[in-house]
Amino acid sequence: MKKRFVIANWKMYIESPEEAKKFISILKRKAASYEGVDAWIAPPFTILPALKGMKFGGQAVSANTGAYTGEVSADMLKEAGASFVIVGHSERRAHSTGSGQAAGDTNEDVHAQLAAAAGAGLSTVLCVGESERMPDGAHFTKIAEQLSSALDGAQSLASKLVVAYEPVWAIGKTAKDAMQPDEVEETVIFIRKTLADILGRKDALKVPILYGGSVEPENAAKLIADGGVNGFLVGHASADIDSFVEILKACRR
Ligand code: PGA
Repeated sequence: MKKRFVIANWKMYIESPEEAKKFISILKRKAASYEGVDAWIAPPFTILPALKGMKFGGQAVSANTGAYTGEVSADMLKEAGASFVIVGHSERRAHSTGSGQAAGDTNEDVHAQLAAAAGAGLSTVLCVGESERMPDGAHFTKIAEQLSSALDGAQSLASKLVVAYEPVWAIGKTAKDAMQPDEVEETVIFIRKTLADILGRKDALKVPILYGGSVEPENAAKLIADGGVNGFLVGHASADIDSFVEILKACRR
């Protein structure tokens, strides 16, 4: 797999369309020549319709339509200009996270959201990751469960799937608290093998696997060189144009 992906998860860091447009115009100018790296941006829902000229997506999606206060469906995202959506982010799953309280999504919810998003023609960025590392390797079982549950019966979606490995304990900190490249690599091999069991080897090889969790300019080069990943899902550092450009630069071929 040649292409690399760096996906910005802006969370609520960038709050206005003006701020977002300024960021995008600088990004286009500075990073236009970074061959082989695709930058995708997931702004807050309210900003999405104002943005054009790049690949934009939602940070979450509802599997429902109709009477669900405060939710946003896959068709609504599409209508607002999204071409992808993040599903199963730890800040939406049913456990508390390093940087906030989760929204309560179960593995079953994530499965339904992924199916709804794919049904609307959106690419999906499926987040998986353990809350803590366990000495007996039990965290691998958790990751395998998240993958198999989300992708159950969804084998045909492989061509529009990206998997982001995000260990919850490493999110929202600094580069020095992030996962080390050798541990990332070990987990990525495990994820690739699990995907092969679910999707078949040929399709599994096509799925980009990203790392997320305190990726900053300080650790991006080492993680991309030695972590066995196809790119990153970046939180806080993606809302700072200089940091984001440095991370993209580290991923250049
Ligand atoms: P972080 O967030 O880069 O701020 O750790 C990553 C994420 O939550 O996707």
